This record gives sequence, C-alpha cells and structure tokens, in this order.
Amino acid sequence: MSGTRQEIGPYEYMDHFKKNTALIVSMDKEGKLNVMALDWKTIEELDGNSVIRAQVAYTRYTYELLTEGVNEFTVNIPSNEINHAVDIAGSYSGRNIDKIKEARLETIPGKRTKVPTIKNSLLSYECQIVHSCKSDMSSHHYFYGKILIAYASDDITK
Ligand SMILES: Cc1cc2nc3c(=O)[nH]c(=O)nc-3n(C[C@H](O)[C@H](O)[C@H](O)COP(=O)(O)O)c2cc1C
Repeated sequence: MSGTRQEIGPYEYMDHFKKNTALIVSMDKEGKLNVMALDWKTIEELDGNSVIRAQVAYTRYTYELLTEGVNEFTVNIPSNEINHAVDIAGSYSGRNIDKIKEARLETIPGKRTKVPTIKNSLLSYECQIVHSCKSDMSSHHYFYGKILIAYASDDITK
C-alpha cells in the first residue's frame, strides 16, 4: 500500500464503496474513538448535499456515540492490509474494548472533522451528521452524514 491518497468527489470509485464492508468511526464528547463494521451504507442526495446513510442498530455502542457524542463520523473502506479489522470491529463492542488499538489501526487526523479517518483505507469520507431517523427496520436507525471531504488511495486511482 502506497499510503498516499487524494481528494475525490463523493461518487467516485463507488464499486469499492458498494462491495466492501466499511469501518465507521465515531467519537464521544471527550474524544474517545470507536470503530464498527458497517455493511448497510449508501451514498445519496439529501437537500442538495451528498450524504452517507449509515444504518446502525440501537443496541450498538456506535449508536450511542452517534447520538450523544460529536455530531460526526468517518466511513472507511479497508484495503487488504487492514481487512482483519472488520472481524474485530464487527464482533466486539467498544463498550468493552478499544477496538482501534486491538485491530492495530492507525488514524489520520480529520481535515474537516474531529473524527479521524483510518490509514490504509481504499476510500475515506469525513461526514457531519445532518439528519437521523428510524430506519425501515425497527431495530435500526439511519444516520445521514454530509460528506465534507472524501479521499481515495493512490492504489485505486492509478
Ligand atoms: C461484516 C459485518 C457487517 C456489519 N454491518 C452492520 C451494519 O451495517 N449495521 C449495524 O448496526 N451493525 C452491523 N454489524 C454489527 C456490528 O458491527 C457489531 O455488532 C459491532 O460489534 C458493534 O460494535 P459497537 O458496539 O462498538 O458499536 C456488522 C457486523 C459485521 C461482522
């Protein structure tokens, strides 16, 4: 992995976005981070903004952070190098362990958000929550994050 990335538009490299499980990073008011595996995600338009819609179950620690923590999240599509993190992020709760440390993930400070992105991702998106509501599934909630900036690894843009 080259480790370098460039800014892209929200709808570029959608094939990678669609086919891979994402890692969503959220943060509490004190700056504590959490990462969760996220399959249910779309990119769409809301009130003229490109947003990521993340579907998160009420039982997740991530739900707690998205509703009570900072009003932001990042979505990261892992490369093979960090794909092992999906199992950890999707099997344990951040209530009990520090999954970022456990998965040996490195973070990159956000340019437009307090929440960082994850190093060695194919795609990363810094998002500000602009809307949230009950999802069609009663156990889940939709969070709509306006995409403030998006990046693609040089490994997929070259
Ligand atoms: C491949 C995979 C995809 C997942 N996708 C979602 C999802 O889209 N939404 C969701 O609420 N949970 C999803 N989960 C479950 C959460 O990632 C899992 O319950 C996690 O442990 C919750 O972590 P948290 O309590 O730290 O938020 C997924 C799990 C896996 C393994």
